[in-house]
Amino acid sequence: MEWNLKEIDTYAKKWIREAGDHIRASFSKTLNVTSKSNPNDLVTDLDKATEQFFIKKIKETYPDHKIIGEEGYGDNVTDLTGTVWIIDPIDGTMNFVHQQRNFAISIGIYFDGEGLIGLIYDVVHDELYHCIKGNGVYLNEKPIPKLTEAKISEAIIALNATWVAPNKRIDHQLLLPLVKDVRGTRSYGSAAMEMVYVATGRIDAYITPRLAPWDIAAGIIMIKELGGKATNLRGEEVDILKQNSLFAAKPGLHGYILRNYLKDGKW
Ligand code: IPD
Ligand code: CA
Ligand code: CA
Ligand code: CA
Repeated sequence: MEWNLKEIDTYAKKWIREAGDHIRASFSKTLNVTSKSNPNDLVTDLDKATEQFFIKKIKETYPDHKIIGEEGYGDNVTDLTGTVWIIDPIDGTMNFVHQQRNFAISIGIYFDGEGLIGLIYDVVHDELYHCIKGNGVYLNEKPIPKLTEAKISEAIIALNATWVAPNKRIDHQLLLPLVKDVRGTRSYGSAAMEMVYVATGRIDAYITPRLAPWDIAAGIIMIKELGGKATNLRGEEVDILKQNSLFAAKPGLHGYILRNYLKDGKW
């Protein structure tokens, strides 16, 4: 099947900027904040309204496209045949609520299982990162250069402190040797932004034992397009329909960290 990628990308960019305008306009209003799975798992009316906005636009324009959205207004998607939009209406909701910055809208569009269009919009800075596979990654109109190699001793990695303190998911000692050997660690609180930072070379790697499809669907496409690698923590291809661990890094460094720091972990 021939996909009209350019047209779909043009609509996606238009809608993501419109959604961003709406979110920026909300800063002067009072937010309605509630919790989902636990008291720290926040959601706002804006998360929900933004997802519903995309769904309305997509269904009006492309009735046969399928949608996966974090807030649950999309379809019950069980396979990736056809065109599937994977949407995180606000990635970094905690930052959105507390800081009104350091969050993004993330949209990955998959065609028969292949990620071909990725968009991540840093709403506050009006910075739209976008990519059609094979055509490079752009920050607004500016092309982003390919990734280069980095040494472990000079690397900055994004890693949440949760994973080096006792936690329910992994042995918290596992990542300590890596933390000791890198130049620095960071945690930005938005997986989509952390993936954009890997894609742009602002950080050298991003490691997390748990993410959902909408956190990574767009970022994976961009990182791969620029020559980086994005896998699970075992070094395998991620299954975009499931919860995943994620390890994204520059070329070279990805293999080095896998071989020397991750290979013995039970991820
Ligand atoms: C969260 C952010 C955060 C990550 C969490 C995600 P949300 O997404 O990406 O950085 O650590 O695992 O759930 O809920 O703000 O869209
Ligand atoms: Ca959430
Ligand atoms: Ca998210
Ligand atoms: Ca979200």
